Amino acid sequence: MQAAINYQRINTLLDAHQRNPLQLVQILIAIQHEYGGIPAALRDYIAKALNVPLTQVHGVVEFYHFLSTARLGKYRIYVSDNITDRMLGNEAIMQTLLTELAVERSKPRTDGRVFVDYTSCTGLCDQGPALLINGRPITRLNTELAKAIAQKINADQPLDSWPSNWFQVEESLRVAGPVLASRIEPGRALQAALAMGPERFLKQVDLSGLRGRGGAGFRTALKWRVSRDAPGKAHYVICNADEGEPGTFKDRTLLTRFADAVFEGMTLGAYVIGAQQGFLYLRAEYAFLYPHLVATLARRRAERLLGKGILGQDFDFDIDIHLGAGAYVAGEESALIESLEGKRAVPRTRPPYTATHGYLNQPSICNNVETYVKTALIAIHGASWFLESGTRHSPGTKLLSVSGDVARPGIYEYPFGVSVQTILDASGASNTQAVQVGGPSGTCITPIEFSRSISFEDLSTGGSFMVFNQSRDMLRVVQNFTHFFAGESCGFCSPCRIGTQLLKQSIDKIVSGSATTRELSDIAETANCIKTMSHCGLGQTAANPLLDTLKRMRPIYEARLTSLDFVPGFDLDGALVTARQLSQRNDAQAHLGQICDENGCLINTSSDQSPSRGPTS
Ligand SMILES: Cc1cc2nc3c(=O)[nH]c(=O)nc-3n(C[C@H](O)[C@H](O)[C@H](O)COP(=O)(O)O)c2cc1C
Ligand code: SF4
Repeated sequence: MQAAINYQRINTLLDAHQRNPLQLVQILIAIQHEYGGIPAALRDYIAKALNVPLTQVHGVVEFYHFLSTARLGKYRIYVSDNITDRMLGNEAIMQTLLTELAVERSKPRTDGRVFVDYTSCTGLCDQGPALLINGRPITRLNTELAKAIAQKINADQPLDSWPSNWFQVEESLRVAGPVLASRIEPGRALQAALAMGPERFLKQVDLSGLRGRGGAGFRTALKWRVSRDAPGKAHYVICNADEGEPGTFKDRTLLTRFADAVFEGMTLGAYVIGAQQGFLYLRAEYAFLYPHLVATLARRRAERLLGKGILGQDFDFDIDIHLGAGAYVAGEESALIESLEGKRAVPRTRPPYTATHGYLNQPSICNNVETYVKTALIAIHGASWFLESGTRHSPGTKLLSVSGDVARPGIYEYPFGVSVQTILDASGASNTQAVQVGGPSGTCITPIEFSRSISFEDLSTGGSFMVFNQSRDMLRVVQNFTHFFAGESCGFCSPCRIGTQLLKQSIDKIVSGSATTRELSDIAETANCIKTMSHCGLGQTAANPLLDTLKRMRPIYEARLTSLDFVPGFDLDGALVTARQLSQRNDAQAHLGQICDENGCLINTSSDQSPSRGPTS
């Protein structure tokens, strides 16, 4: 039985969000949580209550993975489907859940109480296989635990009565550098920056050479300066805690263990650019951190580190937490801002850039969680200290999320310039076949390149470092990544929307052993189109897993092809049987030989005369 919709409660919820259309995503998340879905009547009600077009409400619900137009039930399970979860047996977990719960994947159970599906990486790769149930994570699954979960659901036992240790998320800090080893006392960085004044502090950030830790490596000081100098009614500070790149989970650790430093860095940003409002955009998969983050904010307000008159000065700034609703593309900063404004997370056309036209088209800075922590350290220790580690073009340290075939998965902090081999040795990797640096959108390297370094000038990464030993089928890895991009494409531009589907079909064909060399040239053509013509970074990098492995591991592809020559998928000659019967011809020239020339054109070898050419399709 589905709970009846209580419109009084909906009204209270709407009032709590001031019936503000900018809060649309937040309102829909709350309703999804309470009712397991947002049916037509509710969508209509919300559209009227917020005075927004019904199409906007419907469009938002359809866009995000964790919102649904249909009511999915009281228990909603999403099994994490990153390649590392696959390697740890998530398919057996899925099968156990489906059997024990008597439900079909991705369809609500007939009694409307249970829903089970896969989702992209949940950011728990160091302790997979993992799942989310009503947004709460359960890690280190095995089939026994999956059966126990199903029993609890079948007995309709509320989640709060389940063993609390099932919901524990561990933080494994393996190699600590200045960030992980530090105890940044709340307020210390702020005091240091306030003593310097905004201009001198910004100068320190500039001298430190700090580059954004979200992946692209843009100079933080430059971003902050452009934003500060841009005219606007208000300036905004945004922290990108979307952390959707498969294999990345270092921001989860920072938000869990170093939330004060993250908020302190955001406050420093506000001090420099003159912002009064900040937002931390927290990925839906990390909603379990929400109470802890809200409590940290409340404590900081009580300690006068946030709010009005910060540290007794004429400086007002506060931070709201906005939840994502499941969309990898929402990590792209302009898409993130769309989501903050209550819309579908579709990347904006740029320029203009966020620094001048961000939230509500006002000057804004958007930085990664780790970048903000680094600014707090720079405030305390200064630029020269920061420059002591790292390389000339990549100063400082980088937090890495190490997972896959290693004995010690977890968070490793190294100065930029560290070699891949050093990380493999430290994490207990052996017999390594390949490392995926920077997630699916990054680079796949093989042992010959393990002396390469993690840095913006060599192997750039937002933090993901996934290891695959010799036992792994790398084509399955590529398949998982390619499916990921196809599932996450927002559909806004055709090259990405269609191209990611074509790449998915190609890799499926290759893995199933029904492809020929022709597939490989098709991949190259599609990849070129999607890379050069896509609107945002998702499409531009979606072909990387295929291209990298084709370049470095071509034999694994060739070994899977049915033929190194082109074999048409359609028997053209066979299709002409009826035509031959009708025309009463069965001589050699009435037949088509199915052999192609180098351009893929059919050559009629049945005739002694010069070959007739025709397109294959
Ligand atoms: C598809 C896509 C997803 C992204 N996801 C994230 C993310 O989860 N976290 C992040 O910090 N940056 C992400 N980025 C990069 C952001 O657009 C932006 O560059 C970053 O937040 C800037 O912060 P930084 O300068 O501190 O690195 C993503 C970019 C793209 C194209
Ligand atoms: S490249 Fe893909 S994700 Fe980016 S805007 Fe186009 S369709 Fe959306």
